[in-house]
Amino acid sequence: MRGRSVVVTGAGSGIGRAVVLACARRGASVAALDIDAERAVSVADEASAAGSPRAVGIGCDVSVEESVRGGYDQAVEALSGLDGVCANAGVEINAPLHEFELEQWRRVLDVNLVGMFLTCREAVRRLVETGATGSIVCTSSPSAFVGFAGGGNSAYAASKGGVSAFVRSAALDYARHGIRVNAVVPGATDTPMLVSERDGAARDDALRHIRSAAQEQIPLGRLGRPDEIAAAVVWLLSPEASYVTGAHLVCDGGLLAKSANDF
Ligand SMILES: NC(=O)c1ccc[n+]([C@@H]2O[C@H](COP(=O)([O-])OP(=O)(O)OC[C@H]3O[C@@H](n4cnc5c(N)ncnc54)[C@H](O)[C@@H]3O)[C@@H](O)[C@H]2O)c1
Repeated sequence: MRGRSVVVTGAGSGIGRAVVLACARRGASVAALDIDAERAVSVADEASAAGSPRAVGIGCDVSVEESVRGGYDQAVEALSGLDGVCANAGVEINAPLHEFELEQWRRVLDVNLVGMFLTCREAVRRLVETGATGSIVCTSSPSAFVGFAGGGNSAYAASKGGVSAFVRSAALDYARHGIRVNAVVPGATDTPMLVSERDGAARDDALRHIRSAAQEQIPLGRLGRPDEIAAAVVWLLSPEASYVTGAHLVCDGGLLAKSANDF
């Protein structure tokens, strides 16, 4: 990844932060974009300390067109180029369908799917304009393929199903330009998103419950670590994946390989 310039959205936490740091350790320049500008800057500082030649943190809301354009303007100027993008920003709001507020539903779709579109469109526009090749990795989810047994996941599942369909379609559109578009599919990964809808003691209880359920229900017997997902993303971003496009790299401890039935 040495000499490459990578933009990561949702970079202030969890998987996005891990992708920034993994790119930095491999010598890439990185722009960490997050709706939380302070966290974006702090992750960029960590990237510099980890060996990134150039690292910049930028406040950017992926669901807002001008914010995405402005974020890329700053990123491309600071990094002097663009080779890779990890379109990763996401939110999860769960509720039974009949209780879902339209505003909540729209927020999930706006960040996870419209945000993905805006992030990828901006990247592709810049790459096509300069005739450059590149690699884009979008973060999908097992919920693009199966229903979550816990329920209430309709908006998130719809958004990630959209992301996965988008990836296949965009990969075909830009293959002849030498722009690869792939998805990473993290399973249950130990990040703040797992308990994002809870606070304080309820959050700690939920985490304990999730970790113990993971031991039983996930074939590898544990949650994923953000750095394990980041390793898959970095491979897709790198020239080692030069013949991979339109693909999903599942990184889920065996979750999707397993049928719920044990009879
Ligand atoms: N953690 C999991 O189990 C899991 C599993 C499958 C997929 N994912 C996906 O991985 C991605 C990263 O999630 P994570 O687990 O690291 O969660 P996280 O909550 O730790 O990080 C998400 C980051 O996205 C940022 N963000 C939210 N809205 C934004 C917006 N509008 N614009 C820019 N940034 C925004 C947040 O500030 C946060 O820093 C998401 O797309 C998520 O859906 C997570």
